Amino acid sequence: MNILILGSGGREHTLAWKINQSPKLTNLFVAPGNAGTAEIATNVDLKVNDFDGIKALVISETIDLVIVGPEDPLVNGVHDFFLQDPQLVKVKVIGPQKAAATLEGSKEFAKEFMFRHQIPTASYESFKATDLEKGYSFLEGLKPPYVLKADGLAAGKGVLILNDLEEAKEEFKQMLVEEKFGEASTTVVIEEFLDGIELSCFVLTDGKSYKVLPTAKDYKRIGEGDTGLNTGGMGAISPVPFADKTFLNKIQTRIIEPTIQGLKKDNLPYVGFIFIGLIKVNENPYVIEYNVRLGDPETEVVIPRIKNDLVELFEATANQELDTINLEIDDRTATTVMTVSGGYPETYEKGIEITGLENVASTSVIYHAGTKLKAGKVFTNGGRVIAVTSFGKDHDEALKTSYENIQKFHFDKMYYRKDLGFDL
Ligand code: AMP
Ligand code: GLY
Repeated sequence: MNILILGSGGREHTLAWKINQSPKLTNLFVAPGNAGTAEIATNVDLKVNDFDGIKALVISETIDLVIVGPEDPLVNGVHDFFLQDPQLVKVKVIGPQKAAATLEGSKEFAKEFMFRHQIPTASYESFKATDLEKGYSFLEGLKPPYVLKADGLAAGKGVLILNDLEEAKEEFKQMLVEEKFGEASTTVVIEEFLDGIELSCFVLTDGKSYKVLPTAKDYKRIGEGDTGLNTGGMGAISPVPFADKTFLNKIQTRIIEPTIQGLKKDNLPYVGFIFIGLIKVNENPYVIEYNVRLGDPETEVVIPRIKNDLVELFEATANQELDTINLEIDDRTATTVMTVSGGYPETYEKGIEITGLENVASTSVIYHAGTKLKAGKVFTNGGRVIAVTSFGKDHDEALKTSYENIQKFHFDKMYYRKDLGFDL
């Protein structure tokens, strides 16, 4: 089978690493990929939203299966593009069509979906620029902190949590009137604040049946003790120790089942991953958000724990035969620690040489996030640079190995959090 992965981060390198182990694989391509994927696949210099370029590649390399890493091309309808083109219609695509991808593309759409299907989530109202006064009075009726969400995709930056009412009103106005997040904030969702501990659960569905993948918890803040600015994710742990059997059962019956049934009832075809951001409040799970793809860096701990042949799993998904698969999960804990560029998530330099990667012991696996290969050397090419994944009997043991191996490589101004798991 010839396979194409769209994307360039740690998630895509992890998928490539796992797919590369499959006897079913013939040729593997990643567009655009990074220095890590270059070692195990052919990188193709294409943007993930360049659908015509992707089409040309799929035809010239006779690609059978496309796995879409990030949300952007899904929300832009890449799967629909394949289905509507006679030359591409037979190619299997992992990732939902545009209509269902709106679960991530619009917070308002996701909230309406959850309420329609009685899926537990924070109460909310949504507002447009013409509703400014209504929004102010809604805020006045809430207790702080105030949760404001830009409706559309805002590269993970569209959620504001504010303690002060006047500040919340001002930000609300800036989002709607001054388009603080551009197009994405022409609608703003105001939500009730939920106080609890977060975790994520991942589901792979073929639209008929589904498999529940391991849970994971990521660490979003740049600073130790969960302080400072939000990032794409500074590390992750799987499984989540506080998600015991009883709690997992609640997630399955109250959230996953009604989500899958809701997609069917609403006629939203879905072939791909559903990443459900959850919060545990008084032993009960609530949905914070849906994403229509795998998380990054959660992928770096979830995928390595899957023992099945990933290509077989994707084939079954695309053929709507997922019910024939027996999912096998490694019992051990996996952790990943993300090394980032100095200054991230604000401005940072790119193009810094990374040395010593060859010294990392085989007790960890290195997944490249933002890296670039130039004349045989590896350079930084993003804020999040390299994720170091290890296994252990628990997260402490696994993290110890990752931290040991991080000492073996270096780039100028490298930073990582040394306190992952502190809250568990
Ligand atoms: P989202 O982009 O919707 O995942 O929101 C980003 C982050 O904001 C989440 O990971 C939570 O930490 C926080 N958040 C979002 N909605 C709520 C809420 N209703 N209550 C408390 N925290 C929230
Ligand atoms: N780690 C969070 C995300 O992928 O959105």
